[in-house]
Amino acid sequence: MEEVRVGVVGLGNVGSSTLAILAENADQIALKLGFRLTVTAVCSRSVASRNIPAALGAVYKTTDWREVVRHPDVQIVAELVGGTAVASQIVESAIANRKSVVTANKELMAECGPEIWDRAIRSGINLAMEASVCGGIPIHAVLREGISGDRVVALYGILNGTCNYILTEMEKRNTPIGEVLAEAQRLGYAEADPAADIDGYDARSKLVLLAALAFGEKITPSDIFMEGIRRILPIDFRYALQLKHTIRLVCGARITPDGLILFVRPALIPVSTILAGVQGPYNAVWVKGKYGEDTFYYGWGAGHPTGVAVVSDLMRVAREIRSGSPERVSPFAHERLGENKPVSIALQKCAWYLRFRVDDRPGIIAKLAGILASKQISLEAMLQEPYEGKHDLPFVITVEPTSEQSIRDALGEMSQLDFFTDAPLALPMETAL
Ligand SMILES: NC(=O)c1ccc[n+]([C@@H]2O[C@H](COP(=O)([O-])OP(=O)(O)OC[C@H]3O[C@@H](n4cnc5c(N)ncnc54)[C@H](OP(=O)(O)O)[C@@H]3O)[C@@H](O)[C@H]2O)c1
Repeated sequence: MEEVRVGVVGLGNVGSSTLAILAENADQIALKLGFRLTVTAVCSRSVASRNIPAALGAVYKTTDWREVVRHPDVQIVAELVGGTAVASQIVESAIANRKSVVTANKELMAECGPEIWDRAIRSGINLAMEASVCGGIPIHAVLREGISGDRVVALYGILNGTCNYILTEMEKRNTPIGEVLAEAQRLGYAEADPAADIDGYDARSKLVLLAALAFGEKITPSDIFMEGIRRILPIDFRYALQLKHTIRLVCGARITPDGLILFVRPALIPVSTILAGVQGPYNAVWVKGKYGEDTFYYGWGAGHPTGVAVVSDLMRVAREIRSGSPERVSPFAHERLGENKPVSIALQKCAWYLRFRVDDRPGIIAKLAGILASKQISLEAMLQEPYEGKHDLPFVITVEPTSEQSIRDALGEMSQLDFFTDAPLALPMETAL
């Protein structure tokens, strides 16, 4: 039987899972493809101590990725190293050597995906990146093929499993973020340095890619408003529930009359929505099309499912190599019509949840209401749980739909007041879902 030969660079979580699946499913993959997918070379700095499945047969092992990229037998390079420094060299070098590339690297593709794709097209090779966003959900295939006949008007996702685990556990157990984060680190759901997850960077890279595929615009990380989950308290879930809402790190991209609004931020979403039901380390994407209406995709975002995405990409690229069909059209900025240009989030109009913590004294509500009124912001409701500590009293005001700019102006003015024990927290109430 004929074969297409693969070199794998990076043997960590994703790389080792990819090798395990390729070894275990080799015969089934060969039946599906009509030819074998053979692992010819593997690379990691600690390759000597890595467990390479015996079923893969004779595999060339090296600590130098250049040997994989230049290996005369390797036709597809799987870049599973991560980061942007070495990974970009591996991808560039593979393209220069006319090797097709499969990558799981959201950070690299969010930073320079359009340029990489253009170079791949010029070089006549194939490129695939399904594993870079929501490992277990074939969302790239959905946007590039499944619903590509539609025009996407909105895309909302829960794209970071670590944050979703933390938020859902905080909600279930009424526990502060620090405690749940430490537990997530013990369980392997969070990195030792959790900043990329809980400050929103990881989700932002993923939204760059999904929004580019969905809206055909060139999106950069700086186009996306980003705020992490560090300031959410257990009490916010209790107040949110009184409003029939919950809190999630929502990644959103939607077309408005002004342009495309993009954000990664904690937001209140109604408990009745399908996204609110996404619990623990799961990922989900909801897409609204102009003609196809609502579709919803759900699955794991990390671990073994990412290996499945890499193997499926390797199979697709191998098929295209065999049929002599190199990439012809970049999935980034395919419209180039400028219709969906990213615009500032300050233009967004929605209802808001404002949580205050104050050293209680008479006249506080009047002062806050006065500032809101001066910005033409109308109050909707006020919530205050019975609370012992008068010196750090939390309460909530919700306001009717108003622009983000007005809320920012009001918060700016409130920052002069001397009764706060913590800066006010403003969360949008997402009604578009
Ligand atoms: N983990 C997930 O569930 C997941 C999900 C979706 C996407 N991704 C993406 O998949 C990629 C890989 O993630 P991962 O979690 O598998 O990372 P990881 O566990 O840290 O593995 C990285 C691998 O790259 C190797 N490596 C690093 N620098 C190298 C160099 N200069 N030369 C050769 N090998 C080098 C490491 O080798 P040594 O250990 O020998 O140094 C290690 O085997 C990232 O882009 C990540 O964003 C991961």
